[in-house]
Amino acid sequence: MEFEKYITKRAKPLKASGIREMFKLMADPAVISLAGGSPDPELFPTDFLAEISAEILKNNGKKALAYGTTDGYAPLKEELKKRTENISSFDKEDKIIITTGAQQAIDLVARAVVEDDDLVVVESPSFVGTLNSLRSVRANLIGVTMESDGMDMSELESVLKGGKVKLIYTIPNFQNPTGITMSLEKREKLLELATKYDCLILEDNPYGDLRFAGTPVPTIKSLDKEGRVLYVGSLSKILSPGLRIGYLVCRGELCDKIEIIKQVNDVHTPCLTQMIATEFLKRYDVAAHIKKACEVYGRKCRFMMECMEKYFPKSVTWTKPEGGLFILVYCPESIDAAKLSMEAVQKYKVAFVPSNNFATNIDEKTSSFRLNYSTMSEEKIEEGIKAVGTLLKEKLGE
Ligand SMILES: Cc1ncc(COP(=O)(O)O)c(C=O)c1O
Repeated sequence: MEFEKYITKRAKPLKASGIREMFKLMADPAVISLAGGSPDPELFPTDFLAEISAEILKNNGKKALAYGTTDGYAPLKEELKKRTENISSFDKEDKIIITTGAQQAIDLVARAVVEDDDLVVVESPSFVGTLNSLRSVRANLIGVTMESDGMDMSELESVLKGGKVKLIYTIPNFQNPTGITMSLEKREKLLELATKYDCLILEDNPYGDLRFAGTPVPTIKSLDKEGRVLYVGSLSKILSPGLRIGYLVCRGELCDKIEIIKQVNDVHTPCLTQMIATEFLKRYDVAAHIKKACEVYGRKCRFMMECMEKYFPKSVTWTKPEGGLFILVYCPESIDAAKLSMEAVQKYKVAFVPSNNFATNIDEKTSSFRLNYSTMSEEKIEEGIKAVGTLLKEKLGE
């Protein structure tokens, strides 16, 4: 049967994520994966989660297994409000909606806000999950260059002057894929420009808690007085990605509409995982858990950079993250990162993600690639970086 003709214009631009494709190759246990975006599974509080899951099912099973409300389990909303009270004004207008991961929050915003061909600004490069959500609503994506302290604001202003932009998407802390953090000056400027040109900002902050160096920078949402910023958070990187708990902070009719779209989408996020997350936030020492995660990621990040100093050719440079899970590596233009990554996995069994996956145009040739340091042991990190270094030296003749 011919299925192509049944596929909508919305679904057509979606391509399998290169990262997911890479996951298939990575099924081989011998592969050293520097490609993922997961937190370190060693940090999952499995014993605690086993205990509270059993307790919830035993004492509150009828509630945990029933239908729930679309906006989320009220005690979880309360816990998340406490965690975010410094960034929003829940006493006034902001509301919180629990979502099935941050990915769903982003997708709901895309569905509520973007019509065919609407201009949407994204950082270049940016998170593939959001690019795909925006593609699926047929947004016209415009990438703005990332500098070492966030988006290039003059480039952003000329884009905003050039046509009516509806939404600006940013990951201001330890951005995926660059690891870059936006400076306070740029956050203020971004809000000023969004106000001047009347566009919404989607602030995505799943890595914000994972700072292992430098000083925290206020969220854009905390600088916003009128609700122009829609804020997305997640427990994926500090608790577990598999529980699928994210949240959206927004206000007004837009927030009400997003809630209805979620209802259409999945009715609600599973009550059981919401209840587990609530008990984690209430009863676990979350501050100590995050501190430990930051120590682990800080140590692994520094170690990976030391290995890169040792094994990478001199013409190769990289970002220096203050938190999160990623480093972006910049190679000379002669390198085709997509080809390099295939060769690395086939020849040396090392996986990383070439930046075309994070570009507005996935077919674009890029010479940079993303490395993840959270999941592999230091021994594997060294082995992997050494192999990538050998391959790069072969290609560059250094
Ligand atoms: C920037 C960014 N936003 C959102 C997500 C999605 O997170 P979640 O697991 O909460 O859906 C990710 C996951 O990697 C991410 O990197």
